[in-house]
Amino acid sequence: MRIAFFDSGIGGITVLHEAMKQLPHEDFLYFADTLHVPYGTKSKDEVLAFVKKSVDMIIKEEVKALVIACNTATSIAIAELRKIYEIPIIGMEPAVKPALEMNRSSGKRVLVFATPLTLKQSKYRELVSRIDDMGMVDSVPLPELVEFCEQLNMEGQLITDYFHAKLEPFDLSMYGTVVLGCTHYPFYKSALRKMLPNHIQIVDGSSGTVNRLIQLLSDPNQLLGEGHSNIKFMCSSNETAYIRKMEMALEIIQTIGE
Ligand code: SIN
Repeated sequence: MRIAFFDSGIGGITVLHEAMKQLPHEDFLYFADTLHVPYGTKSKDEVLAFVKKSVDMIIKEEVKALVIACNTATSIAIAELRKIYEIPIIGMEPAVKPALEMNRSSGKRVLVFATPLTLKQSKYRELVSRIDDMGMVDSVPLPELVEFCEQLNMEGQLITDYFHAKLEPFDLSMYGTVVLGCTHYPFYKSALRKMLPNHIQIVDGSSGTVNRLIQLLSDPNQLLGEGHSNIKFMCSSNETAYIRKMEMALEIIQTIGE
């Protein structure tokens, strides 16, 4: 049985890539809701309906666990999905907690990048109010970055100008960590690295999610210890061109490395 990964588009491939590194013998299914990407600028009700429809299609395939490799979909739909389906369902959480811990001794601030819809949700606001007792976390919505990413537009002047404009209001000397709170954003790690001061660390939630996946599947011993891994790509619009785009996105993230 496969481990399924779901996202609105190619963003979740950054999480799939982390899973491939840690689980080299597993078979994966990656499903993108190409009919409705991007999610981050839509309404909560729309996204909930799109996610449920996509997960219904994924569950028809033989899968032993589902990773909602999308911060926006996680914050809106994960509680509902867990009520409907019995397989383990793992979501994304912006890595705000590790970021605050990393900055504890320096006293520097944390800057979270995410979609407008993720930042508006009570899941995000509750996370921050629970762990940010000193008021050290700021956030900035970057909806256009999802669209650039879906066009495989990962670097160049447009991207540099975009980051400059978004970061312009912030005094970066006050920040110690940038949190990538959308699974599309790790495609921009090298572009960001070139622009941010060296002391700023960049973190995302992929390894935390994959560690949780491993924990959940290890307990009933459902992980494969040998054999070649294989990936099946699917998308809601059923386009061959988009399947090729997903394969290219996987090649890109493998080149960016980590
Ligand atoms: C989007 O579809 O707008 C981005 C999804 C995410 O938050 O990872």
